[in-house]
Amino acid sequence: MSATVLDGKKIGRVIEEELFHRITNLQSKEIAPHLAVVIVGDDPASHVYVRNKEMACERCGIKSTRIDLDGNISEEEILATVNMLNSDNSVHGILVQSPLPKGINESMVTDAILPEKDVDGFHKMNLGRLVQGDSSGLLPCTPAGIMKILESSDIELSGKNALVIGRSRIVGMPMSILLAQRGIDATVTIAHSRTKNLSEICRKADLVVAAIGKPEFVKSEWIKSGAIVIDVGINRVEDSSRKSGYRLVGDVDSDVSKVAGYITPVPGGVGPMTIAMLMSNTIMATESQSM
Ligand code: GUN
Repeated sequence: MSATVLDGKKIGRVIEEELFHRITNLQSKEIAPHLAVVIVGDDPASHVYVRNKEMACERCGIKSTRIDLDGNISEEEILATVNMLNSDNSVHGILVQSPLPKGINESMVTDAILPEKDVDGFHKMNLGRLVQGDSSGLLPCTPAGIMKILESSDIELSGKNALVIGRSRIVGMPMSILLAQRGIDATVTIAHSRTKNLSEICRKADLVVAAIGKPEFVKSEWIKSGAIVIDVGINRVEDSSRKSGYRLVGDVDSDVSKVAGYITPVPGGVGPMTIAMLMSNTIMATESQSM
């Protein structure tokens, strides 16, 4: 038996369509929701992600402005750009694409964004609210998108063992908080590069969220039969048979789908959900700034 595929592209498009009425309501008050995306340097994957975010804005009727900064720029200049966007009342959401070049303090940049414009949900104020058990604010897009996939697929997590592999600021840490929150009630384990016996821990998990950025790292022998597997990885591996010279693979080996009960594909799983949640956060930010 092979796993049921959790179609993030389809679920993400439904979320985007559900924003339509809120967007037209804002437009009827002459408010144009506006997202500013800052990208620093020429990381090819980041450029693809930013382009996908711009295309989603076009689909939804959200204005987007992209600011390209040179990879050699100083932290002060990035902060000056953020401050300029903070004080521009026509901009409702600000996102600085990660990773930033070496030497730039990412959390300093994130915390410079006004919390009400922080559509990534990475600002201390927004993460602090989440840690205090309030998930009604701007939530980090990837973990929030994963919660939506689980919810819209009627996957019940109360009392289940959830394993989050990876403890990043963007995915792993906020993901574990969302899974453990009251009302979801999963029993959460966070694994990372120092974890011992990962395969054993993984075999006990009813839900595995793989967010480590290592191609095909999670193997089928590690997975409990029928488990839910969420693959956050988007890794480029060389493939000379392709015109591009590479193909995209997740953090989960393709054989896992023979053992798991549910799985997210790469591409077309978590990626489109992240973008749909960014659109949703942008509308939430616009509404709260327009009250
Ligand atoms: N890089 C990879 N994922 C993300 C994300 O969700 N937000 C930002 N700003 N950068 C990223």
